[in-house]
Amino acid sequence: MKQFKWGLIGGGEGSQIGLTHRVASAHDRHFDFVAGALDIDANQAKQYGMRLGLDHDRAYGSWQDMLEGEKNRADKIDLVTIATPNSTHFEITKAFLENGFHVMCEKPLTMTSEQAKQIVEIAKETGNICAVNYGYTGYPMVIQARHMVQSGQLGKIRLVVSEFAHGHHSDAADADNPRLRWRYDPKLAGDSSILMDCGIHALNMATFVTGQEISKLSADFASCVEGRELEDDAMINYRMSKGTVGRLWTSAIALGHQHGLTIKVFGESGAIRWAQEQPNQLYFTPLNQPTQILERGMASLCENALSASRITAGHSEGFLDAFANLYSQIARAISHQHEGQKIDPSEIWFPTAVDGKHSIDIVEQAVKSARNGSQWLVVNS
Ligand SMILES: NC(=O)c1ccc[n+]([C@@H]2O[C@H](COP(=O)([O-])OP(=O)(O)OC[C@H]3O[C@@H](n4cnc5c(N)ncnc54)[C@H](O)[C@@H]3O)[C@@H](O)[C@H]2O)c1
Repeated sequence: MKQFKWGLIGGGEGSQIGLTHRVASAHDRHFDFVAGALDIDANQAKQYGMRLGLDHDRAYGSWQDMLEGEKNRADKIDLVTIATPNSTHFEITKAFLENGFHVMCEKPLTMTSEQAKQIVEIAKETGNICAVNYGYTGYPMVIQARHMVQSGQLGKIRLVVSEFAHGHHSDAADADNPRLRWRYDPKLAGDSSILMDCGIHALNMATFVTGQEISKLSADFASCVEGRELEDDAMINYRMSKGTVGRLWTSAIALGHQHGLTIKVFGESGAIRWAQEQPNQLYFTPLNQPTQILERGMASLCENALSASRITAGHSEGFLDAFANLYSQIARAISHQHEGQKIDPSEIWFPTAVDGKHSIDIVEQAVKSARNGSQWLVVNS
Protein backbone atom coordinates (compact mmCIF):
# COMPACT_ATOMS: atom_id res chain seq x y z
CA MET A 1 0.00 0.00 0.00
CA LYS A 2 1.12 3.54 -0.82
CA GLN A 3 2.40 5.67 2.08
CA PHE A 4 0.14 8.68 2.71
CA LYS A 5 1.01 12.19 3.90
CA TRP A 6 -0.22 13.13 7.32
CA GLY A 7 -0.65 16.35 9.30
CA LEU A 8 -1.41 17.05 12.96
CA ILE A 9 -3.24 19.99 14.55
CA GLY A 10 -2.79 20.37 18.30
CA GLY A 11 -0.81 17.74 20.15
CA GLY A 12 1.94 20.26 20.96
CA GLU A 13 4.83 19.81 23.35
CA GLY A 14 3.64 18.47 26.72
CA SER A 15 0.13 17.71 25.46
CA GLN A 16 -1.48 14.52 26.63
CA ILE A 17 -2.28 12.90 23.31
CA GLY A 18 0.07 14.36 20.66
CA LEU A 19 2.85 11.78 21.00
CA THR A 20 0.36 8.90 20.85
CA HIS A 21 -0.94 10.12 17.48
CA ARG A 22 2.55 10.67 16.08
CA VAL A 23 3.72 7.19 17.10
CA ALA A 24 0.47 5.45 16.12
CA SER A 25 0.21 7.06 12.68
CA ALA A 26 3.78 6.02 11.88
CA HIS A 27 3.59 2.55 13.43
CA ASP A 28 2.81 0.60 10.26
CA ARG A 29 4.49 3.11 7.93
CA HIS A 30 1.15 4.00 6.34
CA PHE A 31 1.55 7.71 7.13
CA ASP A 32 4.46 10.14 6.88
CA PHE A 33 4.28 13.18 9.21
CA VAL A 34 4.86 16.17 6.89
CA ALA A 35 2.79 19.10 8.24
CA GLY A 36 1.53 20.43 11.55
CA ALA A 37 0.05 23.34 13.50
CA LEU A 38 0.88 21.87 16.84
CA ASP A 39 0.28 24.55 19.43
CA ILE A 40 -2.06 27.44 20.23
CA ASP A 41 1.04 29.63 20.43
CA ALA A 42 2.21 30.28 16.84
CA ASN A 43 5.90 30.49 17.66
CA GLN A 44 5.80 27.36 19.84
CA ALA A 45 3.89 25.57 17.08
CA LYS A 46 6.53 26.37 14.45
CA GLN A 47 9.53 25.68 16.70
CA TYR A 48 8.19 22.37 17.95
CA GLY A 49 7.16 21.31 14.44
CA MET A 50 10.66 21.93 13.14
CA ARG A 51 12.21 20.13 16.12
CA LEU A 52 10.07 17.13 15.18
CA GLY A 53 11.52 17.23 11.67
CA LEU A 54 8.91 19.18 9.68
CA ASP A 55 10.17 21.44 6.88
CA HIS A 56 10.04 25.07 7.99
CA ASP A 57 7.30 25.90 5.44
CA ARG A 58 5.11 23.07 6.75
CA ALA A 59 5.56 23.81 10.46
CA TYR A 60 2.61 26.17 10.60
CA GLY A 61 1.69 28.77 13.25
CA SER A 62 -2.06 28.11 13.08
CA TRP A 63 -4.52 25.64 11.62
CA GLN A 64 -5.84 28.38 9.29
CA ASP A 65 -2.31 28.86 7.86
CA MET A 66 -1.99 25.10 7.53
CA LEU A 67 -5.22 24.83 5.57
CA GLU A 68 -4.16 27.65 3.22
CA GLY A 69 -0.65 26.26 2.87
CA GLU A 70 -1.69 22.67 2.21
CA LYS A 71 -4.77 22.94 0.03
CA ASN A 72 -2.99 24.01 -3.16
CA ARG A 73 0.13 21.88 -2.84
CA ALA A 74 0.63 19.04 -5.29
CA ASP A 75 1.99 16.98 -2.39
CA LYS A 76 -0.65 18.05 0.14
CA ILE A 77 -1.49 15.93 3.16
CA ASP A 78 -3.98 13.09 2.69
CA LEU A 79 -5.15 12.94 6.31
CA VAL A 80 -5.20 15.48 9.12
CA THR A 81 -5.61 14.60 12.79
CA ILE A 82 -7.27 17.15 15.05
CA ALA A 83 -6.03 16.86 18.63
CA THR A 84 -6.93 20.30 19.94
CA PRO A 85 -9.30 21.07 22.86
CA ASN A 86 -12.90 19.97 22.35
CA SER A 87 -14.51 23.33 21.55
CA THR A 88 -12.35 23.73 18.41
CA HIS A 89 -13.10 20.33 16.82
CA PHE A 90 -16.19 21.41 14.88
CA GLU A 91 -14.67 24.44 13.17
CA ILE A 92 -11.41 22.73 12.20
CA THR A 93 -13.01 19.44 11.08
CA LYS A 94 -15.57 21.29 8.96
CA ALA A 95 -12.94 23.48 7.28
CA PHE A 96 -10.65 20.56 6.38
CA LEU A 97 -13.46 18.29 5.14
CA GLU A 98 -14.83 21.09 2.96
CA ASN A 99 -11.42 21.64 1.45
CA GLY A 100 -10.95 18.06 0.36
CA PHE A 101 -9.02 16.47 3.23
CA HIS A 102 -9.72 13.25 5.11
CA VAL A 103 -9.98 13.90 8.85
CA MET A 104 -9.29 11.96 12.03
CA CYS A 105 -10.90 14.02 14.82
CA GLU A 106 -10.34 13.46 18.50
CA LYS A 107 -13.40 12.80 20.60
CA PRO A 108 -15.80 14.42 21.23
CA LEU A 109 -16.47 15.16 17.57
CA THR A 110 -18.29 18.40 18.41
CA MET A 111 -19.93 20.19 21.33
CA THR A 112 -23.54 19.90 20.07
CA SER A 113 -25.71 17.46 18.12
CA GLU A 114 -26.49 20.14 15.56
CA GLN A 115 -22.77 20.57 14.82
CA ALA A 116 -22.27 16.80 14.67
CA LYS A 117 -25.15 16.52 12.19
CA GLN A 118 -23.46 19.09 9.97
CA ILE A 119 -20.18 17.15 10.04
CA VAL A 120 -21.94 13.90 9.12
CA GLU A 121 -23.60 15.67 6.18
CA ILE A 122 -20.39 17.34 4.98
CA ALA A 123 -18.50 14.05 5.11
CA LYS A 124 -21.27 12.41 3.11
CA GLU A 125 -21.49 15.18 0.51
CA THR A 126 -17.73 15.52 0.01
CA GLY A 127 -16.99 11.78 0.22
CA ASN A 128 -14.11 12.56 2.56
CA ILE A 129 -13.42 10.21 5.44
CA CYS A 130 -14.20 11.58 8.88
CA ALA A 131 -12.96 9.20 11.56
CA VAL A 132 -13.41 9.85 15.27
CA ASN A 133 -10.75 8.66 17.64
CA TYR A 134 -12.46 6.15 19.86
CA GLY A 135 -9.03 4.58 20.03
CA TYR A 136 -9.94 1.82 22.48
CA THR A 137 -11.92 0.09 19.72
CA GLY A 138 -8.55 -0.75 18.15
CA TYR A 139 -7.55 -3.28 20.84
CA PRO A 140 -7.43 -6.85 19.44
CA MET A 141 -9.41 -8.30 22.35
CA VAL A 142 -12.13 -5.66 21.92
CA ILE A 143 -12.34 -6.69 18.27
CA GLN A 144 -12.58 -10.31 19.46
CA ALA A 145 -15.33 -9.35 21.95
CA ARG A 146 -17.27 -7.67 19.17
CA HIS A 147 -16.87 -10.74 16.97
CA MET A 148 -18.10 -13.09 19.71
CA VAL A 149 -21.11 -10.94 20.54
CA GLN A 150 -22.13 -10.21 16.96
CA SER A 151 -21.63 -13.78 15.72
CA GLY A 152 -24.01 -15.03 18.42
CA GLN A 153 -21.50 -16.85 20.67
CA LEU A 154 -23.15 -15.38 23.78
CA GLY A 155 -26.71 -15.85 22.52
CA LYS A 156 -29.17 -12.99 22.75
CA ILE A 157 -27.54 -10.13 24.65
CA ARG A 158 -29.42 -9.29 27.84
CA LEU A 159 -27.21 -6.74 29.54
CA VAL A 160 -24.14 -4.58 28.86
CA VAL A 161 -22.34 -2.77 31.67
CA SER A 162 -19.45 -0.42 30.96
CA GLU A 163 -17.45 1.93 33.13
CA PHE A 164 -14.93 4.69 32.73
CA ALA A 165 -14.27 5.74 36.29
CA HIS A 166 -10.98 7.24 37.45
CA GLY A 167 -10.01 8.99 40.66
CA HIS A 168 -7.76 11.77 39.44
CA HIS A 169 -10.07 14.65 40.38
CA SER A 170 -10.75 13.44 43.91
CA ASP A 171 -8.77 15.99 45.88
CA ALA A 172 -11.11 18.80 46.96
CA ALA A 173 -8.06 20.91 47.78
CA ASP A 174 -7.19 20.79 44.07
CA ALA A 175 -10.51 22.33 43.00
CA ASP A 176 -8.93 25.67 42.13
CA ASN A 177 -6.12 24.16 40.10
CA PRO A 178 -6.46 25.86 36.66
CA ARG A 179 -5.74 22.56 34.86
CA LEU A 180 -8.84 21.08 36.51
CA ARG A 181 -11.10 24.07 37.04
CA TRP A 182 -12.00 24.61 33.35
CA ARG A 183 -13.28 21.06 33.09
CA TYR A 184 -16.10 21.87 35.51
CA ASP A 185 -16.84 25.34 34.12
CA PRO A 186 -19.78 25.21 31.65
CA LYS A 187 -18.44 28.25 29.79
CA LEU A 188 -15.31 26.31 28.83
CA ALA A 189 -16.35 22.65 29.00
CA GLY A 190 -19.96 22.83 27.76
CA ASP A 191 -22.89 21.15 29.50
CA SER A 192 -21.12 18.01 30.66
CA SER A 193 -17.73 17.21 32.18
CA ILE A 194 -16.91 13.59 32.99
CA LEU A 195 -19.58 12.09 30.72
CA MET A 196 -18.36 14.10 27.70
CA ASP A 197 -14.69 13.45 28.56
CA CYS A 198 -14.64 9.79 29.63
CA GLY A 199 -18.12 8.30 29.79
CA ILE A 200 -18.56 8.58 26.02
CA HIS A 201 -15.67 6.14 25.50
CA ALA A 202 -17.49 3.53 27.58
CA LEU A 203 -20.80 4.19 25.81
CA ASN A 204 -19.10 3.97 22.42
CA MET A 205 -17.52 0.70 23.52
CA ALA A 206 -20.98 -0.68 24.37
CA THR A 207 -22.34 0.26 20.94
CA PHE A 208 -19.21 -0.97 19.14
CA VAL A 209 -19.20 -4.39 20.81
CA THR A 210 -22.95 -5.02 20.61
CA GLY A 211 -23.57 -3.39 17.22
CA GLN A 212 -26.62 -1.68 18.73
CA GLU A 213 -27.40 1.99 19.19
CA ILE A 214 -28.69 3.50 22.42
CA SER A 215 -32.38 4.26 21.94
CA LYS A 216 -33.46 5.72 25.31
CA LEU A 217 -31.84 6.67 28.59
CA SER A 218 -32.20 8.02 32.09
CA ALA A 219 -29.26 9.85 33.69
CA ASP A 220 -28.23 10.82 37.19
CA PHE A 221 -25.40 13.37 37.51
CA ALA A 222 -23.61 14.37 40.71
CA SER A 223 -21.02 17.01 41.53
CA CYS A 224 -19.36 15.35 44.49
CA VAL A 225 -16.60 17.89 45.04
CA GLU A 226 -18.08 21.06 46.43
CA GLY A 227 -18.08 24.06 44.10
CA ARG A 228 -18.09 22.12 40.84
CA GLU A 229 -20.84 23.24 38.51
CA LEU A 230 -20.62 20.22 36.21
CA GLU A 231 -20.81 16.53 37.08
CA ASP A 232 -17.80 14.62 38.36
CA ASP A 233 -19.81 11.40 38.57
CA ALA A 234 -22.65 10.05 36.44
CA MET A 235 -24.78 6.94 36.12
CA ILE A 236 -26.80 6.26 32.99
CA ASN A 237 -29.39 3.55 32.58
CA TYR A 238 -30.31 2.87 28.98
CA ARG A 239 -31.92 0.54 26.47
CA MET A 240 -30.43 -0.42 23.13
CA SER A 241 -31.99 -0.76 19.69
CA LYS A 242 -32.42 -4.57 19.98
CA GLY A 243 -33.68 -4.41 23.56
CA THR A 244 -30.41 -4.96 25.45
CA VAL A 245 -30.38 -3.34 28.89
CA GLY A 246 -27.44 -0.97 29.42
CA ARG A 247 -25.70 0.56 32.43
CA LEU A 248 -22.88 3.09 32.45
CA TRP A 249 -20.90 4.45 35.37
CA THR A 250 -18.39 7.22 34.80
CA SER A 251 -16.53 9.15 37.46
CA ALA A 252 -13.57 11.40 38.19
CA ILE A 253 -13.68 10.85 41.96
CA ALA A 254 -13.29 7.04 42.04
CA LEU A 255 -10.21 7.17 44.24
CA GLY A 256 -7.92 4.21 43.63
CA HIS A 257 -9.09 3.73 40.05
CA GLN A 258 -6.34 4.66 37.61
CA HIS A 259 -7.91 4.53 34.16
CA GLY A 260 -11.03 2.50 34.75
CA LEU A 261 -12.43 1.62 31.31
CA THR A 262 -14.13 -1.78 31.45
CA ILE A 263 -16.92 -3.57 29.62
CA LYS A 264 -19.02 -6.61 30.57
CA VAL A 265 -21.54 -8.20 28.21
CA PHE A 266 -24.05 -10.78 29.50
CA GLY A 267 -25.90 -12.97 27.00
CA GLU A 268 -28.35 -15.87 27.35
CA SER A 269 -25.62 -18.46 26.78
CA GLY A 270 -22.39 -16.72 27.78
CA ALA A 271 -20.69 -13.60 29.11
CA ILE A 272 -17.47 -11.70 28.44
CA ARG A 273 -15.54 -9.05 30.30
CA TRP A 274 -12.56 -6.88 29.36
CA ALA A 275 -10.56 -4.16 31.12
CA GLN A 276 -8.38 -1.56 29.41
CA GLU A 277 -5.66 -1.94 32.04
CA GLN A 278 -5.25 -5.65 31.15
CA PRO A 279 -6.01 -5.36 27.43
CA ASN A 280 -4.45 -8.63 26.31
CA GLN A 281 -6.99 -10.86 28.07
CA LEU A 282 -10.68 -11.38 27.43
CA TYR A 283 -12.63 -13.37 30.02
CA PHE A 284 -15.29 -15.66 28.56
CA THR A 285 -17.81 -17.60 30.66
CA PRO A 286 -20.07 -19.96 28.70
CA LEU A 287 -23.31 -20.82 30.51
CA ASN A 288 -22.78 -23.60 33.11
CA GLN A 289 -19.05 -23.82 32.35
CA PRO A 290 -15.91 -22.46 33.98
CA THR A 291 -14.50 -19.08 32.91
CA GLN A 292 -11.88 -19.19 30.14
CA ILE A 293 -9.17 -16.58 29.60
CA LEU A 294 -8.71 -15.81 25.92
CA GLU A 295 -5.24 -14.39 25.27
CA ARG A 296 -4.30 -11.97 22.51
CA GLY A 297 -2.51 -13.84 19.74
CA MET A 298 -4.20 -17.25 20.32
CA ALA A 299 -4.72 -18.98 16.97
CA SER A 300 -8.41 -19.55 17.71
CA LEU A 301 -9.27 -15.83 17.76
CA CYS A 302 -11.17 -14.26 14.87
CA GLU A 303 -9.25 -13.09 11.83
CA ASN A 304 -9.72 -9.37 12.54
CA ALA A 305 -8.42 -9.76 16.12
CA LEU A 306 -5.39 -11.68 14.89
CA SER A 307 -4.57 -9.18 12.19
CA ALA A 308 -4.90 -6.29 14.70
CA SER A 309 -2.04 -7.78 16.71
CA ARG A 310 1.63 -7.27 15.80
CA ILE A 311 3.73 -9.09 18.37
CA THR A 312 3.66 -12.64 19.69
CA ALA A 313 1.39 -13.63 22.56
CA GLY A 314 2.75 -13.10 26.05
CA HIS A 315 4.33 -9.73 25.29
CA SER A 316 2.43 -6.57 26.22
CA GLU A 317 0.62 -4.80 23.45
CA GLY A 318 -1.33 -1.69 24.31
CA PHE A 319 -2.59 1.82 23.81
CA LEU A 320 -0.26 2.94 21.00
CA ASP A 321 -0.95 -0.24 19.05
CA ALA A 322 -4.72 0.19 19.44
CA PHE A 323 -4.56 3.74 18.01
CA ALA A 324 -2.25 2.42 15.27
CA ASN A 325 -4.94 -0.08 14.27
CA LEU A 326 -7.34 2.78 13.61
CA TYR A 327 -4.70 4.55 11.48
CA SER A 328 -4.11 1.33 9.61
CA GLN A 329 -7.82 0.95 8.89
CA ILE A 330 -8.09 4.57 7.74
CA ALA A 331 -5.10 4.06 5.40
CA ARG A 332 -6.84 1.04 3.89
CA ALA A 333 -10.02 3.06 3.42
CA ILE A 334 -8.12 5.89 1.69
CA SER A 335 -6.34 3.35 -0.47
CA HIS A 336 -9.67 1.73 -1.45
CA GLN A 337 -11.04 5.16 -2.38
CA HIS A 338 -8.00 5.89 -4.58
CA GLU A 339 -8.52 2.60 -6.36
CA GLY A 340 -12.28 3.11 -6.68
CA GLN A 341 -13.01 0.01 -4.57
CA LYS A 342 -15.99 -0.33 -2.21
CA ILE A 343 -15.29 -0.57 1.51
CA ASP A 344 -16.56 -3.79 3.10
CA PRO A 345 -17.46 -2.88 6.72
CA SER A 346 -16.75 -6.43 7.91
CA GLU A 347 -13.16 -5.92 6.79
CA ILE A 348 -12.51 -2.21 7.27
CA TRP A 349 -14.00 -0.59 10.37
CA PHE A 350 -13.22 2.48 12.40
CA PRO A 351 -15.43 4.89 14.32
CA THR A 352 -16.78 7.60 12.02
CA ALA A 353 -18.65 10.89 12.30
CA VAL A 354 -21.86 8.86 12.56
CA ASP A 355 -20.56 7.24 15.75
CA GLY A 356 -19.26 10.61 16.93
CA LYS A 357 -22.72 12.12 16.42
CA HIS A 358 -24.44 9.27 18.27
CA SER A 359 -22.21 9.99 21.29
CA ILE A 360 -23.10 13.68 21.28
CA ASP A 361 -26.82 12.85 20.92
CA ILE A 362 -26.50 10.63 24.00
CA VAL A 363 -24.68 13.29 26.03
CA GLU A 364 -27.26 15.95 25.12
CA GLN A 365 -30.16 13.73 26.17
CA ALA A 366 -28.34 12.66 29.34
CA VAL A 367 -27.83 16.29 30.35
CA LYS A 368 -31.55 16.98 29.81
CA SER A 369 -32.54 13.85 31.71
CA ALA A 370 -30.26 14.65 34.66
CA ARG A 371 -31.75 18.15 34.85
CA ASN A 372 -35.27 16.71 34.85
CA GLY A 373 -35.15 14.23 37.71
CA SER A 374 -33.63 11.39 35.64
CA GLN A 375 -36.60 11.38 33.25
CA TRP A 376 -36.37 8.69 30.54
CA LEU A 377 -35.73 10.29 27.14
CA VAL A 378 -35.53 8.94 23.61
CA VAL A 379 -32.18 9.28 21.80
CA ASN A 380 -32.75 10.08 18.14
CA SER A 381 -30.08 8.90 15.76
N1 LIG B 1 -9.10 9.32 22.42
C1 LIG B 1 -8.48 9.37 23.59
O1 LIG B 1 -8.25 8.35 24.21
C2 LIG B 1 -8.05 10.71 24.12
C3 LIG B 1 -7.16 10.81 25.19
C4 LIG B 1 -6.77 12.08 25.61
C5 LIG B 1 -7.27 13.23 25.01
N2 LIG B 1 -8.17 13.10 23.99
C6 LIG B 1 -8.73 14.27 23.29
O2 LIG B 1 -7.67 14.93 22.60
C7 LIG B 1 -7.89 16.33 22.59
C8 LIG B 1 -6.66 17.02 23.17
O3 LIG B 1 -6.51 16.59 24.51
P1 LIG B 1 -5.12 16.71 25.30
O4 LIG B 1 -5.41 16.06 26.60
O5 LIG B 1 -3.97 16.27 24.48
O6 LIG B 1 -5.08 18.30 25.52
P2 LIG B 1 -3.83 19.16 26.00
O7 LIG B 1 -4.43 20.37 26.64
O8 LIG B 1 -2.86 18.30 26.74
O9 LIG B 1 -3.15 19.59 24.60
C9 LIG B 1 -3.82 20.37 23.66
C10 LIG B 1 -2.80 20.83 22.63
O10 LIG B 1 -3.50 21.53 21.58
C11 LIG B 1 -2.86 22.79 21.35
N3 LIG B 1 -3.87 23.72 20.85
C12 LIG B 1 -4.90 24.30 21.53
N4 LIG B 1 -5.64 25.04 20.69
C13 LIG B 1 -5.06 24.94 19.47
C14 LIG B 1 -5.36 25.48 18.19
N5 LIG B 1 -6.40 26.29 18.01
N6 LIG B 1 -4.54 25.17 17.16
C15 LIG B 1 -3.48 24.36 17.32
N7 LIG B 1 -3.15 23.80 18.51
C16 LIG B 1 -3.94 24.10 19.56
C17 LIG B 1 -2.29 23.18 22.69
O11 LIG B 1 -1.27 24.16 22.56
C18 LIG B 1 -1.78 21.82 23.18
O12 LIG B 1 -0.52 21.53 22.61
C19 LIG B 1 -9.16 16.58 23.40
O13 LIG B 1 -10.23 16.72 22.52
C20 LIG B 1 -9.33 15.32 24.23
O14 LIG B 1 -10.70 15.00 24.49
C21 LIG B 1 -8.55 11.87 23.55
